[in-house]
Amino acid sequence: SAEVREMLLSRIRDVADYPLEGVMFKDITPLLADHEAFSVLTDSLARICTERGATKVIGLEARGFILAAPAAVRAGLGFVPVRKAGKLPGATLAQSYELEYGTAEIEVHAEDLTAEDRVLIIDDVLATGGTAEASLQLVRRAGAQVAGFAVLLEIGFLGGRERLTPALGDVPLEALVTV
Ligand code: PRP
Ligand code: MG
Repeated sequence: SAEVREMLLSRIRDVADYPLEGVMFKDITPLLADHEAFSVLTDSLARICTERGATKVIGLEARGFILAAPAAVRAGLGFVPVRKAGKLPGATLAQSYELEYGTAEIEVHAEDLTAEDRVLIIDDVLATGGTAEASLQLVRRAGAQVAGFAVLLEIGFLGGRERLTPALGDVPLEALVTV
C-alpha cells in the first residue's frame, strides 16, 4: 500500500557525497533499527516469496543478506547466500560483472541449487542492475529457475530495470519502494 511504501521510504536516509563525491548513498540502517519497519519489510518480502511459489531464497552479499534471511525464515524456505568471490569453501559457480571501474565476481555453492528449485533473489537496492544481472545468470547456470527478483529500493534513473529486461524475460522484478 501507499502507506507502507511511505513508511519504508521515510526510514531510508539519504547521505550526500558518500562513498564518493556526487553520489547520494541510500542508507537502510534506520529502517533496520526500527523493529516495526523491519517486520513490515520482512513480511512484504516473505509474501512475495510465497506468491511466486519460491522453493529457495537467495540473498546477495552483503546488504541483501540482511533482508533475505529473515524473509526466508518467515516464508518457511531455505536461504542460499550469493557471496563475493573467495568466501565460500565448497565447489562454486562464479559469475563476473562490470563495475564502473573494473570488474567484480560473485559465487554460489553449486550444491545449494537444483533443477527443481524456483529461486526468489533478494537485494536491498537496484541501481545500475549489474549485481542483479550477474545473480540471474548464476542461478540459471546452476540449473535452477528464477521465480522473481525483489528489492527494497529501486533507483529509477540509474536504469537498472531497463538493463535487466532482456535477462528477466517473464520473471517479475518487484521493488517495494521506487525513487
Ligand atoms: C550495493 C547494493 C546492491 C548493489 C546495487 O552493493 O547493496 O547490491 O550495490 O548496485 P547495482 O545495481 O549498480 O549493481 P555493494 O556491492 O555496494 O555492497 P554491499 O551490499 O556488500 O554493501
Ligand atoms: Mg549489495
